[in-house]
Amino acid sequence: MLNSALLLCAATLVRFTPAFAACDYATLQQATSNFISSQATGAYATVAASAAYTENFKTAAIGSGILSKPLKIDHSRSLHDTTQCATFTELIVTDRSHPYVIGTQIHYNADGTQATKIDSIVTDAGDWLFNATGTLYWASREDWFVIPVEQRNTRAVIQAAADAYLDLFNNKSVVVPWGTPCARLEGGSYTGKGAATDSCNVGVPSGVQLVNRRYVIDETVGSVDVFLNFGGATGIPDSHEFRVENGKLRFVHTMTVM
Ligand SMILES: *[C@@H]1O[C@H](CO)[C@@H](O)[C@H](O)[C@H]1NC(C)=O
Ligand SMILES: *[C@@H]1O[C@H](CO)[C@@H](O)[C@H](O)[C@H]1NC(C)=O
Repeated sequence: MLNSALLLCAATLVRFTPAFAACDYATLQQATSNFISSQATGAYATVAASAAYTENFKTAAIGSGILSKPLKIDHSRSLHDTTQCATFTELIVTDRSHPYVIGTQIHYNADGTQATKIDSIVTDAGDWLFNATGTLYWASREDWFVIPVEQRNTRAVIQAAADAYLDLFNNKSVVVPWGTPCARLEGGSYTGKGAATDSCNVGVPSGVQLVNRRYVIDETVGSVDVFLNFGGATGIPDSHEFRVENGKLRFVHTMTVM
């Protein structure tokens, strides 16, 4: 009697172990590596068939979306968020038959082994400043190196730098931690001129609300990707990814679906 009560109790404890446990960084790296190699053959749609899926912020059938299409990937870079068990991957495909630049946020189960929610932003011809060749050219020249442990910023500092930049679009009083040099890659267009004085504080629009922000943060590379609606609650799907060094903005990458 006592034994079975204990067993039941133990089983209950196991079953209700809360999903607070952070994911392991290496497990998430395995997950993005698997994502990228599966996307190359279109197999990821099958690997992650049970995940909830949106494409350009609309619920979509994973089996017929971009994840099911074999893509010849020229460049990829991923963020790994161990606190949220989530990842973000930037994929650049210059294949002339159909160039793409794709951003994908993936959320996993508690141990990081199974994708549960996938949100893709898929940009191609006609999207904002789209030029996959240009995106590849500039993205592959930037160095998003792993930041030494003692110089890393906290999640809060990284997110605050991103939020300040995003808030600036609707409030010119916001103080943004501009770094120098800093460059923005928007579609295939680059603000950087290769000068030590390059600034990201050029031509930021005003009167635009950037809302419904969903963050994936990786402190090891000082980076955050934000999915958001550009232009209010029904605004167009947009990804803004930031590289922060010493609390200051260094690189910004955007993908905007027109
Ligand atoms: C795309 O970017 C490449 C590399 O920067 C550039 O050579 C090309 O002219 C661009 N294409 C267009 C249509 O702007
Ligand atoms: C604009 O930003 C400033 C500085 O952060 C802040 O004090 C102010 O409340 C903001 N205004 C609005 C309307 O949010």
